[in-house]
Amino acid sequence: MGHSFKPSAFVLFSLLFTTSLAQTFTSCNPMEKTDCPADTALGVANYTIDFTNNIMSDRVWNTTAGKVDFEDDGAAFTINQRGDSPTVQTNFYIFFGQVEVIMKAAKGQGIVSSIVLESDDLDEVDWEWIGGNNSYVQTNYFGKGNTTSYDRAVWHPVNNPQDEWHNYTVDWTHEQLEWFVDGQSIRVLKFEDANGGQNFPQTPCHIMLGIWAGGDPTKNAEGTVEWAGGDTNYDDGPFSMTVKSVRVTDAGRGTQYVYGDKTGSWQSIKSLNDTSPIKLDGENSGSTTQSMKQKWNGLSSTTKNIIIGVVCGVALLCVAIFAFCCIRQRRAGKHEKLVEDAKYEQNAAEVLAYRANMTRLRGEKMTTAQVRVSPVMGNAGAMYQNHGQTQPMMGAASPNPGAGYANSNYAQSVSTFGSGRGYQKY
Ligand SMILES: *[C@@H]1O[C@H](CO)[C@@H](O)[C@H](O)[C@H]1NC(C)=O
Ligand SMILES: *[C@@H]1O[C@H](CO)[C@@H](O)[C@H](O)[C@H]1NC(C)=O
Ligand SMILES: *[C@@H]1O[C@H](CO)[C@@H](O)[C@H](O)[C@H]1NC(C)=O
Ligand SMILES: *[C@@H]1O[C@H](CO)[C@@H](O)[C@H](O)[C@H]1NC(C)=O
Ligand SMILES: *[C@@H]1O[C@H](CO)[C@@H](O)[C@H](O)[C@H]1NC(C)=O
Ligand SMILES: *[C@@H]1O[C@H](CO)[C@@H](O)[C@H](O)[C@H]1NC(C)=O
Repeated sequence: MGHSFKPSAFVLFSLLFTTSLAQTFTSCNPMEKTDCPADTALGVANYTIDFTNNIMSDRVWNTTAGKVDFEDDGAAFTINQRGDSPTVQTNFYIFFGQVEVIMKAAKGQGIVSSIVLESDDLDEVDWEWIGGNNSYVQTNYFGKGNTTSYDRAVWHPVNNPQDEWHNYTVDWTHEQLEWFVDGQSIRVLKFEDANGGQNFPQTPCHIMLGIWAGGDPTKNAEGTVEWAGGDTNYDDGPFSMTVKSVRVTDAGRGTQYVYGDKTGSWQSIKSLNDTSPIKLDGENSGSTTQSMKQKWNGLSSTTKNIIIGVVCGVALLCVAIFAFCCIRQRRAGKHEKLVEDAKYEQNAAEVLAYRANMTRLRGEKMTTAQVRVSPVMGNAGAMYQNHGQTQPMMGAASPNPGAGYANSNYAQSVSTFGSGRGYQKY
C-alpha cells in the first residue's frame, strides 16, 4: 500500500479502533516544527498535462510507489499482484485553486482508486472509488490530521465510473470546498461547517494519484477491508485506474509556501516569490516527453509506413542472409559426406583386399592360427561394422568401391564383404 494513501486506511482504522495515527504521514509537520523546508509552489496559474500525449517528468511528478504505464488512453496505474500500489505525487504544492482529473476508476473488489490533496500538516481532500461499486464515488476531507469524526465521507452517484471518462474537479478557496462531477456541483463544504474551520483543509497541498488494495487483509485492518468492499482476489486482476489528464490551478501564485507559525491556519501561510518556478512538463513545457507508444501514435501514417517498410526490408534481408548461410552449410555438409563415403569405401576395400589376401594365405598355409588382426585393421573392422549396421551392402552396392581398387579379387571381395561380420571371427 502506498505510503501516501495510508491516511484513508488509517482513518478507517481510527474510526473503528479509536486510535489516532495521523502524525506519521508527513516527513516534517509544521505544526510541530518551525524549521520545515518550504513547499515548492506550482508557480504558474494553470498547469495541464494530457497523458495520452505526454509522460510525467520526474521534475514535476514523484513516483512514490510502483510504476505508471503510459498507454493510448492515458496514464495507467495497475495492480498486477499483491503489494502493487502505483502512486505518484506532485513535487509542487498549491495554495487554494482547482484540481481537475479526467479518469476511469479501477474495477475489482477491494481495489481503491484515489485522488488526494494533502498538506504537510495533514489537511486532506479526497476522491475515492471502490472497485466493487461501479455507481458511486466517495468524497472526503480532513483538517490537521484530525480523524475523530466520521460524518465527513459522502457517497455520490456517478454513472459507470469504471468504463466512462468523467471530469472530477475540486474547487478550493479559503471560504469553501466544492466537488464537481462533469461540471455538476455535487458537494459544498463551507469553512465554518468544518468544526468552525478547525477541520477545514487550508494549507498548501500537493496532489496524489494512486491505486491500492484496501481489500488485502494481509495489509489492512478488518475495517479497511470492509470499507473497501471486501477481500481482493488478485486472480481477477490486473486492476487499472486510467488517468487521461490533469489540470491544476494554483490560486496562491507564489513560487514557495512557508508556514509562518504552528497554527496551521491559512492566514499563517506566506507566499514567497524569490525562487524560479518549477520547470513544468506537459502542455506547459516547450517540448513534450512521450513514451515510445505515444511517439509512434503521434506519427503520420506515411511516416509509419516508411518505418514499417524499412523494418520489413531489414527483416527480409536478415532472412535472406540466414537462408544463404544455411544452404552453404548444407552444401559443405554434402561435400563432407561424399568425402567420408569415399574414405569409408576405400577402407572397406582395403579390408576386403586384406581379407582376400588372408584367405589366399590361409589357403596356401592351410592354417588359421597364424592369422592375427593387426590393431589398425581391427579398427578398420570396427569401423566397417559400424557402417555395416546401417548400410550393410554399401560396399557391394557401390559401383566403384574404393578409389583405384579394381582387380580380379573384386567379385570375391564383394561376396566376402556381404557376409561382413564373419571377418570379426578371425
Ligand atoms: C487558468 O484556467 C482558468 C480556468 O480554466 C482560466 O479562467 C484562466 O484564464 C487560466 N489562466 C491562464 C493564465 O491561462
Ligand atoms: C519523492 O517522495 C519521497 C517520499 O515521499 C521523498 O522522500 C522524496 O524526497 C521525493 N522526491 C522529490 C524529488 O521530491
Ligand atoms: C455502492 O455504494 C453505495 C453507497 O454506499 C451503495 O448504496 C450501493 O448499494 C453500492 N452498490 C454496490 C453494487 O455495492
Ligand atoms: C477533531 O474533530 C472533532 C469533530 O469534528 C472535534 O470535535 C475535535 O475538537 C477535533 N479535534 C481537534 C484537536 O481539533
Ligand atoms: C471539468 O469540470 C470543471 C468544473 O466544472 C470545468 O471548469 C472544466 O472546464 C471541466 N473540464 C473539461 C475538460 O471539461
Ligand atoms: C509572483 O510573481 C508572479 C509573476 O511575476 C506574479 O504573477 C504573482 O502574483 C507573484 N506572487 C506573489 C505571491 O507575489
